[in-house]
Amino acid sequence: MSQLSHKDPLSAPDPSRPAAAAEPGSASLPAPLALPVPTAAARLRARPGGPLRGSCTVPGDKSISHRAVMLGGIASGVSRVRGLLQGADCHATLHALAALGCAIDLRPEPAPEPGLEPELVVQIEGRGLHGLREPSAPLHCQNSGTTMRLLAGLAAGQRFASFLVGSPQLCRRPMERVVRPLRQMGAQLIGRQGGRLAPLALAGCGDRPLGGITYELPVPSAQVKSCLLLAGLYAAAPVTVVEPAPTRDHSERMLASMGAQLERSGNRITIVPQPQLQALELQVPGDASSAAFVLVAAALIAGSEITVRGVGINPTRSGLVETLREMGAAICYDNLRESAGEPVADLRLSQRPLTACDCRGPRVVTLIDEVPILAVAATQAHGRTVIADASELRVKETDRILVTATELRKLGADITPTADGLVIVGPTPLRGAAVKSHGDHRLAMALAVAGLVASEETLIDGTEVTADSFPGFAATLQRLGADLTAAGPVKSATWTDD
Ligand code: S3P
Repeated sequence: MSQLSHKDPLSAPDPSRPAAAAEPGSASLPAPLALPVPTAAARLRARPGGPLRGSCTVPGDKSISHRAVMLGGIASGVSRVRGLLQGADCHATLHALAALGCAIDLRPEPAPEPGLEPELVVQIEGRGLHGLREPSAPLHCQNSGTTMRLLAGLAAGQRFASFLVGSPQLCRRPMERVVRPLRQMGAQLIGRQGGRLAPLALAGCGDRPLGGITYELPVPSAQVKSCLLLAGLYAAAPVTVVEPAPTRDHSERMLASMGAQLERSGNRITIVPQPQLQALELQVPGDASSAAFVLVAAALIAGSEITVRGVGINPTRSGLVETLREMGAAICYDNLRESAGEPVADLRLSQRPLTACDCRGPRVVTLIDEVPILAVAATQAHGRTVIADASELRVKETDRILVTATELRKLGADITPTADGLVIVGPTPLRGAAVKSHGDHRLAMALAVAGLVASEETLIDGTEVTADSFPGFAATLQRLGADLTAAGPVKSATWTDD
């Protein structure tokens, strides 16, 4: 068993600035929970090859992992979470909760069935709703928007002050969307540019609890909704969030499974102040957003038949599977089950020719993180695919509309960025080229999949970021038969802003 202690987060290396080489052991924390040390900038080589066959799993859902750590930290009792994503973003959340006073242990457990990987169980000793302690240093959210926006809600309800910092990449992303409603609840917080950008400083609410609020989200955002629900746990009156379109509801499901009083009526979600939350016993489902890369790779390579086991199929996240089905892919849900209020299934895909799709409206929210890989699928589909109502992509880890179009064009794709999406005409034979991730994990993986159906070879620079959400990405595809290999470290990062 190893224990997570806390180390000055400001001394943590900044993963958005790749180092020339890894510095193993530079953090005092035991692996694998040591603060993420930047690995050398990595490059993957993708080549076309035969069908993908077999079955695999994908790492735990990122959104659920963040929430399990935060809610486990304020529960009464010890939470046990299996299958927590061991990615850089979730490490930021683990370290933040450790800095807020939660003892966090890792326990290796035998594999659930022969042939499967041994499991790590994360144990979080909850401090109760009012037991967190003032952190002695700023909480470093690294590149993780979910960490910063959800922590802002949690920190706003505490009596003590907190400071939230992040990588340069995170400090460019909009924070006003959480700052404004938290201020309306009475929280005192400041950020750069009048609260538009991180770092953020929260004064804490002392003896005067936050007030209630009814807040209409200006953009459909589960991060903002979750921030306000977390703050609502500490408010003196109910907090109601009104959604313009249904966003992922993992916070609501998890809070309900912990005994919180939460009501949904149409597009309104209301939480009332809670006396306590029960500890969690949770198996984190495989991340549908990571499964998306494996599914699309198999959907594009002739003759492929694969199964991705244990994937979350929450309807607020299943937009890509539904869209691929409409495009012609044969995808079945086998072995349906439930884990802590989340639906889970094994996803079986048989390759079929794809036709173009029209993707807009509320569907887009349910596949917002999958747009880069959907664009790759569309390059091989017959017809004109239109993806609209996706302007949120402009403020993700990168401007995903711009970088997806820019990099896929290098491979010969017929793809045009629009103000709020992409237009892709297919099928286009892709040709191998040198492309780059721009420091965006989902773009890196989408480009690697595109490289599997391009002629000759594609080199993707900056692929170390795949570990943000899908550690083992290349190995998983290799085991299914893909020709995706490390092409060695690159001397300097080529994905920094230019
Ligand atoms: C997330 C919500 C989405 C998503 C992000 C994770 C979450 O962001 O893009 O990867 O865990 O709540 P928004 O809520 O900003 O749309």
